[in-house]
Amino acid sequence: MSPSSPARVAPLPAPPPRPTLVATRPIRVLFVCLGNICRSPLAEAVFRQKVEEAGLADRFEIDSAGTGHWHVGEPPDVRMRATAARRGLDLSGLRARQLRRGDLAGDLAYDHVFVMDKANLNDALYLDPHGDHGTRVRLFREFDPEPDDYQVPDPYYGGPDGFDRVYDIVERTAEAVLQRMREVYGL
Ligand code: 4NP
Repeated sequence: MSPSSPARVAPLPAPPPRPTLVATRPIRVLFVCLGNICRSPLAEAVFRQKVEEAGLADRFEIDSAGTGHWHVGEPPDVRMRATAARRGLDLSGLRARQLRRGDLAGDLAYDHVFVMDKANLNDALYLDPHGDHGTRVRLFREFDPEPDDYQVPDPYYGGPDGFDRVYDIVERTAEAVLQRMREVYGL
């Protein structure tokens, strides 16, 4: 072909419509942070509230876990509980647990694991070194319409403003995650 010939490129066919996944059992969703006392229990409770408001409670199993072991058995941080209570959400019944390999692989693995920051992502994927189930693990804020750096900032060592900021991020992102789930699963 001479250099002056126009390129002849066949138009790409339209992509096929994305198939709707059919959930034959409850969709298992896990939220993960470091301590399981601030960010991920809030995400669990906010997402559960939205699922219940949508009348979809029987379609989901929802939990949260921490990559670290320090706070296992504890209720959420008192500052996180106070912030949530001001917004009408009671976190007092939740107890921290540690993320385990079975959350990511095997018969009881979660379908969707949403981690709060990139350290959580590394730590979670370490539990699944073969990457067999890596596609299940994603940064929660990938779904945030205002994702900033894609991480939920850790409020633990900051001032009280940090907890309100985390609440706003989690509220907005949980809504977007539920919308995506409704599209993907046709709910
Ligand atoms: P979380 O916050 O990961 O959102 O639950 C933290 C809780 C505890 C610690 C750090 C972050 N800690 O260092 O004990």
